[in-house]
Amino acid sequence: MCGIVGYIGQRDCTDVLMDGLEKLEYRGYDSAGIAVFEKTGIKTVKTKGKLKDMRQKLETEGSPVGHCGIGHTRWATHGEPSDQNSHPHSNGRVTIVHNGIIENYIELKEFLTEKGYVFHSQTDSEVVACLLDYYYSERNPLRAIMETVKELQGSYALGIMFKDFPDRVYATRKESPLIVGIGENEYFIASDIPAFLKYTKKYALLEDDDIVCMTNDDIEFYDVHGLPEQKEISVAEWDVEQAQKCGYPHFMLKEIHEQPEIVQKTLESCCKNGEPSFEDIGLTDDMLRDVKRVFVVACGTAMHAGIIARYAIEQLARVPVTVEVASEFRYMDPIVGEGDLVIVVSQSGETADTKAGLELAKQKGAKTLAVVNVKYSAIARQADMFIHTLAGPEIAVASTKAYTAQISVLYLLAFRFAFARGTIDRERMNQLTAQLLTAPKAIQDVIDHKQDCQYIASKLINTDTLFFIGRSFDYALSLEGSLKLKEISYIHSEAYAAGELKHGTISLIEPGIPVITVATQSAVLAKTISNMEEVKARGGVIIAVCRKGTVFAADSVDMKLEIDTDLDDILVPLPTVCALQLIAYYTSVLRGIDPDKPRNLAKSVTTE
Ligand code: G6P
Repeated sequence: MCGIVGYIGQRDCTDVLMDGLEKLEYRGYDSAGIAVFEKTGIKTVKTKGKLKDMRQKLETEGSPVGHCGIGHTRWATHGEPSDQNSHPHSNGRVTIVHNGIIENYIELKEFLTEKGYVFHSQTDSEVVACLLDYYYSERNPLRAIMETVKELQGSYALGIMFKDFPDRVYATRKESPLIVGIGENEYFIASDIPAFLKYTKKYALLEDDDIVCMTNDDIEFYDVHGLPEQKEISVAEWDVEQAQKCGYPHFMLKEIHEQPEIVQKTLESCCKNGEPSFEDIGLTDDMLRDVKRVFVVACGTAMHAGIIARYAIEQLARVPVTVEVASEFRYMDPIVGEGDLVIVVSQSGETADTKAGLELAKQKGAKTLAVVNVKYSAIARQADMFIHTLAGPEIAVASTKAYTAQISVLYLLAFRFAFARGTIDRERMNQLTAQLLTAPKAIQDVIDHKQDCQYIASKLINTDTLFFIGRSFDYALSLEGSLKLKEISYIHSEAYAAGELKHGTISLIEPGIPVITVATQSAVLAKTISNMEEVKARGGVIIAVCRKGTVFAADSVDMKLEIDTDLDDILVPLPTVCALQLIAYYTSVLRGIDPDKPRNLAKSVTTE
């Protein structure tokens, strides 16, 4: 949600900003803009729409020429997407870009209006520009920023320029991501590393209310009191290719193809001598033995990974696991505390609700474990323990490789949990681990047969509504398959526990409605088949996603997608989800939609 870039150096600033914004497109946005210091002052170009609209506007209005500037992609929260509401916002002597939400903006707006400020947009962000101007005196930007952030309630990442200082970009943040890129005599700010990866891999992190001042040949960091600080410089492990399409038509397809390698890498990073090992992150067998209850708190696809974890941990380790949507967990006054392990799962590590859930769990005395893909993210840094999924940058809005990396880690955790609690012995743990290490091959096999998924997609493109059903792990997969499909194809889709369908939703089954039945779990296969028959009897079109060789009664299945693997039932979700991802991908493409950037969705949801 919202992308920020800022640059100072020798390069053409407009190019760097536009290039950076392109790399942040995945975050979701509905307008864009840049402001660059030209010889005669700041030139701002901004527009409602996409970066192609921005490029057009730059052509007609002329690209700003300079070496210092800030840019933004906006995902509307306060005020509709419009040219006026787009960032950068200028008021008085200050120009800013903002990501986050200023919760007390109405009070601040009233106060500033009384002081004579006139507002040009409906955004909460513009008050920040005015407030900075209000506190800007004696040519002291640092003081203005310090005074301003004291007044702000909510979350913010800010790129700031002062009219009087054409050679400086300031930035600060609280609860919204902002990374500082450090090159050779050039500096960057960005919401995420891919925005400057092409120029430098070196970066520094800002703590809440830290301030950075970047000039042509220097960079200075200040703490919340305005005292100079030294920052640790880290080197990004991601490389440029990972953030590019590399010949694939879409990031989503590329990311689906990366899964065998990513799952392999992630699994290996959590194993020692063939067994799952979490001692390095401080998660010992003694701790696992003492855990009373487990909570998984997450949003979207990450929450669905939590449901897989629930089935795996409960089945193997016999510990009660509750999976909570983070936006509910944080406000439900949850009964959680000492003795509980709260696992937060997040690709970005910045999702506002998940982060708040983590903070609440910590406050209540639970141990917290983050399973996160972005190691420099807030969630990864705040949790007591952190497991890094090694999916690399995930650009497509619909999460694929991050999910498979998450469930890979969560499986290993389930195995270790069970071993620590004595519900499985070492031999079984190692046998399960060895099997899991063969999952990349099974995923590859699904990818090698992607034309089967494409065929099924071709049969779905004209439907208005469809259903996914399944039991146990297959139910967890149904939820994820359905979410994937609806978010990128815009076809209404619902997932049901197969046995629950007849308690209401079956009334929606009419002749011709597709029902994707996930049927990989042998323990409940007969039951799932009965539910399938109930649908078939009402004219539903059955698409069975099952293990190779599964036998169904004649005419009970219209189409079959077979997963050819001898993985244990518990591990079959890894290749199976890949098939569901491919069905969603091809349905989207065949309907003429860009699967990488579905409407209204944001990759990183940093507001509640
Ligand atoms: C957004 C994305 C989803 C993602 C969810 C949670 O809704 O569109 O793909 O699953 O946020 O994000 P996280 O970064 O916490 O995994």
